[in-house]
Amino acid sequence: MLDYNPGRMVDFLEIKGGKRLSGTVTVSGAKNAALPMLMATLLTSEECTLSNIPNLLDVDLTLGLLEHFGAEVNYFGSTIKVKTPKLKATEASYSLVKALRASFWVLGPLLARGRAARVALPGGDAIGTRPVDIHLQALTKMGADISLKHGVVFASAPNGLRPIEIDFHFASVGATHQVMMAAALTPGTTVIRGAAREPEIVALAEMLTQMGALIEGAGSSVVSITGRESLDGCNIKMIGDRIEAGTFLLAGLITRGEVEVKGFNPDHLGEFISILLDMGAILSPRENGLLIKQESSIKPIKIRTDIFPGFATDLQAPLMAALCLARGESQIEESIFEGRFGHVQELARMGANIEVHDRMATIMGVNSLSAAPVEAKDIRGGASLVLASLAADGVSRIFEIDHLRRGYANLEAKLSGLGAEIGCKPEEIEDAIAIGC
Ligand code: UD1
Repeated sequence: MLDYNPGRMVDFLEIKGGKRLSGTVTVSGAKNAALPMLMATLLTSEECTLSNIPNLLDVDLTLGLLEHFGAEVNYFGSTIKVKTPKLKATEASYSLVKALRASFWVLGPLLARGRAARVALPGGDAIGTRPVDIHLQALTKMGADISLKHGVVFASAPNGLRPIEIDFHFASVGATHQVMMAAALTPGTTVIRGAAREPEIVALAEMLTQMGALIEGAGSSVVSITGRESLDGCNIKMIGDRIEAGTFLLAGLITRGEVEVKGFNPDHLGEFISILLDMGAILSPRENGLLIKQESSIKPIKIRTDIFPGFATDLQAPLMAALCLARGESQIEESIFEGRFGHVQELARMGANIEVHDRMATIMGVNSLSAAPVEAKDIRGGASLVLASLAADGVSRIFEIDHLRRGYANLEAKLSGLGAEIGCKPEEIEDAIAIGC
């Protein structure tokens, strides 16, 4: 919620809608690959060089966390060198982890290397209950003694972790990262059945392989990790951000423009490609990317979010913005996070007609959206408001843009490059009240 202290300055994005976007945009490195890979640097005392790291708040938060554990971090543009000669701490307090759910994933590396860890239960986006039972069951099976007190997970494995075979009841991305990292520094072979298959899992596997672990099956639902007593450094380039790519493709679609999105592997979009085609988009392959053109009106669709290669939950909110303008009724079932409809009430402020029952959103297409002051509730919900604003009549203001800073690097510059009229402005909060926020 906005804090309406008189005189307090807030940043907001101002977008004048109605322009067809055209041109080329190159996406940044994938946030969801960068975060686990930065955490995996804790597994070794040697230097790890990670390039194509996106300039994001979540990356800064993760680097702060690593420094707390004793990492030496050096930046060279989008390349970051991390070296942790010794773990100086094995505890991460609530204040360190509350902003970023993924920070909980340090538990595995800390346990494997330091044999003890205290990590507060995570915060992050308010999109559902987001339990961590799969993480804790797996680490317990690996021999960790785990207890939960006052919102903190206390874990210890004085004799080290042991390899296991485990079946996940859900293909959790975070739990797969967590166990892969812990197992890479645990001699013997660990097998995960029901593992997540997302491209970010494959990226982490490549890094752990370079560091000396033997990994088979990454990208399938059975992953085996043969770990070692100690791991080496690595030099690895981040994959392009598939969620950012999907968002820019939708920016082309919703503005009836022609946009080339580069710097990512289209295979990483899974079912999303056929969804765009079903909506009437014309897609052409480009080197490391795709060109999207939308010439006809947007067609309605019925879809469900799913684990990879299904329709990514992170693209649900951005896609919904486009479906608000489809010719007819669409449905989206959110099967991954039960609370991921925070953007609906904000889209409604712009004239969208959406009904939500439980996990199902029914979107009745309208002829136009009208600009309004709106508030980002989470990263991808914020992106849906940006997309809606690009297509709306008039000038929209999007507040709480720190959410966007967490997931979209240089967003204004990239959209301006495609011809959008967008700017970030500071304003006293009293003025925001005056325009009806
Ligand atoms: C990661 C991504 C996030 C994406 C999500 C699903 C990062 C930093 N975040 O989040 O952007 O939306 O994958 O693709 O990469 N679950 C349990 N028990 C557990 C763990 C998860 O029940 O121990 C449930 C969650 O409540 C949720 C579902 O599994 O309903 C998906 O969670 P998970 O795949 O773990 O997502 P994250 O790793 O948190």
